[in-house]
Amino acid sequence: MNHPLEPLTQSEVQQAVELLRALPDWTPAIRIISVTLKEPPKTAVEAWPAVPVAERRATAVLMNNALNRASTVLLDLAANRIIQVQLAPEGAQPTLSTDEQIECEQAVLASEDFRAALERQYGITDTSLVMVDIWSAGHYDQDDDRDTGQRLTRPLCFLRLDPTDNGYARPIEGIRPVVDLNTMKVVRIEEYGKWPLPPESCNYSPDRAGPLRTGIKPLLITQPEGPSFTLDDHQLTWQNWKFVIGFNAREGLTLHHIRYTDSGRDRGILYRASLTEMVVPYGDPRPTQARKNAFDVGEYGMGMCANGLQLGCDCLGDITYLDADLCDSRGRTLTIPNAICIHEEDYGILWKHTDRRLPDNPQVRRSRRLVVSSISTVENYEYGFYWYFYQDGNIEFQLKLTGVLSLGAARPGEQLPHGAMVAPQLYAPNHQHFFNMRLDFDIDGQGNTVSQVDLVGDPIDDENPFENAFRAKATPLRTEKQACANLKLETARTWKISNPSHLNRLGEAVAYKFIPGDNSVPFASPNAWWRKRARFVDHHVWVTPYAENENFAAGDFPNQSLADHGLSTWVEADRPIEDTDVVLWYTFGHTHIPRPEDYPVMPANYIGFLLKPIGFFDRNPANDLPPQITIGKSCEHC
Ligand code: NI
Repeated sequence: MNHPLEPLTQSEVQQAVELLRALPDWTPAIRIISVTLKEPPKTAVEAWPAVPVAERRATAVLMNNALNRASTVLLDLAANRIIQVQLAPEGAQPTLSTDEQIECEQAVLASEDFRAALERQYGITDTSLVMVDIWSAGHYDQDDDRDTGQRLTRPLCFLRLDPTDNGYARPIEGIRPVVDLNTMKVVRIEEYGKWPLPPESCNYSPDRAGPLRTGIKPLLITQPEGPSFTLDDHQLTWQNWKFVIGFNAREGLTLHHIRYTDSGRDRGILYRASLTEMVVPYGDPRPTQARKNAFDVGEYGMGMCANGLQLGCDCLGDITYLDADLCDSRGRTLTIPNAICIHEEDYGILWKHTDRRLPDNPQVRRSRRLVVSSISTVENYEYGFYWYFYQDGNIEFQLKLTGVLSLGAARPGEQLPHGAMVAPQLYAPNHQHFFNMRLDFDIDGQGNTVSQVDLVGDPIDDENPFENAFRAKATPLRTEKQACANLKLETARTWKISNPSHLNRLGEAVAYKFIPGDNSVPFASPNAWWRKRARFVDHHVWVTPYAENENFAAGDFPNQSLADHGLSTWVEADRPIEDTDVVLWYTFGHTHIPRPEDYPVMPANYIGFLLKPIGFFDRNPANDLPPQITIGKSCEHC
């Protein structure tokens, strides 16, 4: 039976497109930015499957290029009708569609002004090898009035030497076209001076990278009896875990209704987990570089930029794929084949003990993890999203950052303190990547409390004569403002999400622990324009009560926004968050001081977090794991 949170099928997307085209004021000037499942109410999902969910709804975001006005449409697919059309606030700019990316490049290459600037500055007359990468325009108070109320981009341009050359090796530094996506015309060419093209090529494809190393023998991962998970449409079951795999144009991969079967009981952990926003601010004040701060989720759409993955390359082993069913901005079918990869991995040992009195009987269990992943390419950069489920109840999220640095040209001998040289006359500015994840916990139900847990040493007194005592101090978070916090190394700060109405056999509230990984604070001033639009970077952890329309940390329309319309505004209400349906928002930053080794393509950087049961189970839930399963013979000792 289909789970009510399954993403829209391609035929449902097309049904929605037909309904939209039948709108009374439909015109060809309207682009369909996205069509996404409108999730049914939680109560309906919780009552399923005992009570079937008939509801099947979708939300579409439209952009009327003629009126420069976005709207949001709610559709009832079960009844095949439009429920509501709501105009977005004036000036709100929805996510850039992939069609606009392609058309924007063509518009720049066709622009006489652009061609003239290229010839004037570089003597280039052939634009067929020029790459134009769409970059969101952002908003700055220095912008003149003519920019206000337009749907703009400010692309970066590069030059290939031949059609398969790595063009990022040659940034066209001094020229910045500005494009109005509503008219799909270049509105002006900004020129900032002359920089020569960097002299060297640097390619990474196997036919051009130079001699390839040898000595790598085949490594095959086989599962002759198939994988240990079952997939029913988008419902996955593996090793006591059950969840639904979602996907949409904006967030890309999402996970829903994550439950664990514990001694026959179906226990809730996370209702929904998603990447809600990302901002990549650059730290170079020069006019060619200072306006680079892409909001990759709200401005580009992680789902729209998702890759079709390749067996044996992106994913190794016995792989199951799911396609992504989207549409392009003209409503045409857009299916990304193999967008989501699902497989099992061996992950070393899960637990081991040797009782020296029983030397022939060491007990060791291997850890196996289930991986659900996708990868998105946003022009030069790649982001990999990896959810790991473990047999001991852990859930891990890892982001892998790879792809090509956003590069600029340097003049010979030019001193550039806000970045690093990666090749002669080729420069990469310092930057940060801030991600925000929304984690809607339902630990054994909706009444959950988040506590901040700090490890503190005891006072030095008669009770602590050896001065060795320390304890975990849990502070229950009662309101939204109280919950805003940063990581703290001095107290090894973590967070605990518990259900005070469900006690374990030791009398403690059942709980999961949120364990942050690497993180950073923003180095730009709070008055930097990008920070005014992305207040979610002001704290690492935020907690809000569940609200149906609070889904994106920087608001619904961060593209060219004039202010933050997300988390920072919601928590102003300082709503109570104790023993209620809570959402934990985690902001984590990766600070990227580029290295020559990050060029031409960066080895992946990893960043993420871990969720770990703490009193959720009565004992190690992996105590029941059998010894290693191998073909023909079990491992020698265990
Ligand atoms: Ni980076």
